Amino acid sequence: MKIAIVGATGLVGREILKILEEKQFDKFCDFNFYASSRSEGKILNVGSKFARVMALDNNSIEPADYAIFSAGSIVSKTWAKKFVKLGATVVDNSSAFRRFKNIPLVVPEINMDDVGCSKIIANPNCSTIALALPLFAIAKHVKIKRVVVSTYQAVSGAGKKALDDLENSTSNKLPHKITDNLIPQIDKFLANGNTFEEDKMIFELKKILHEPNLQVSATCVRVPISNCHSESVNIELSKPLSNKKLREILSCERGICLTDNTETQLYPMPSIANNTDDILVGRIRQDKSCKNTINLFLCMNNLRKGAALNAVQIVERLISKQSLVGGHNM
Ligand SMILES: NC(=O)c1ccc[n+]([C@@H]2O[C@H](COP(=O)([O-])OP(=O)(O)OC[C@H]3O[C@@H](n4cnc5c(N)ncnc54)[C@H](OP(=O)(O)O)[C@@H]3O)[C@@H](O)[C@H]2O)c1
Repeated sequence: MKIAIVGATGLVGREILKILEEKQFDKFCDFNFYASSRSEGKILNVGSKFARVMALDNNSIEPADYAIFSAGSIVSKTWAKKFVKLGATVVDNSSAFRRFKNIPLVVPEINMDDVGCSKIIANPNCSTIALALPLFAIAKHVKIKRVVVSTYQAVSGAGKKALDDLENSTSNKLPHKITDNLIPQIDKFLANGNTFEEDKMIFELKKILHEPNLQVSATCVRVPISNCHSESVNIELSKPLSNKKLREILSCERGICLTDNTETQLYPMPSIANNTDDILVGRIRQDKSCKNTINLFLCMNNLRKGAALNAVQIVERLISKQSLVGGHNM
């Protein structure tokens, strides 16, 4: 089996290689690594499988079973369909296809069934994935009416050049210096006053949860930490949900780690999320200012479950589905 990784030298790309190695994909896969011409010739590996990075162009693209794209939406728009034509199923980390009606937007724990026969599968925005998992768990028990979320997003969410900005106190990639600062702008501004990042969260949550009428309000803020996004979330429900029941619900859910003990000062923080693939959820409490409303705080590793891991999990599930019907030789 052949897997192509487009954007293999980026923050997400390198995390994809690590995860493929952790999951021992090198035992049954070969890999093609693509990046820009700047990285041509670099050697990367997944475990025992080493390969030279190829500059992505018409001469270098080859057939693959799966192609994981993490090189921005322009690259995805230009090249994803070409990989599909050569036989690949594409899992795309960019925002290029997420809004297309016929393209599934997938968090495997929630809506893997949406994939159907689609040859392009979109990976949601990192902040969306973090919030979708607890909302999905809650919605199985109580209808959600409205969600108000404020994010605290790490600099790694904007790629390796943004991390250089954090390290060197520059503003080459980010719109302002992030050192000793917060930036309430992630991505470009839209005519409605939201940023594109905020609009992505609002649209994507509804699509993943199959809840077109869900009311969502989002404010996305870049904060000066290197990795792991956090979110403060206010959730209005159609009927009461006690703290105890909510803790029970969340502690049973795959992909979520209840991190909530005020007596021991345990709550989600980037320093904990860095070392886990779970979405950490804590600071659970009732919001007495509004009927049937709860507050929580969450934290996640944006490079892993927010991007690389979610994409690899999609590929993993597609492979096991294929092998069940005898399509692939693992
Ligand atoms: N960072 C996150 O937390 C996160 C979360 C969810 C989704 N995403 C999405 O994942 C994608 C990658 O993000 P990132 O943070 O990994 O960015 P990054 O660190 O800036 O890496 C970008 C990658 O794209 C490659 N690339 C750039 N231009 C290219 C071109 N013309 N042809 C081929 N490859 C090209 C780069 O190659 P060179 O090394 O040669 O420049 C590099 O491998 C983006 O679409 C982003 O929106 C990121």
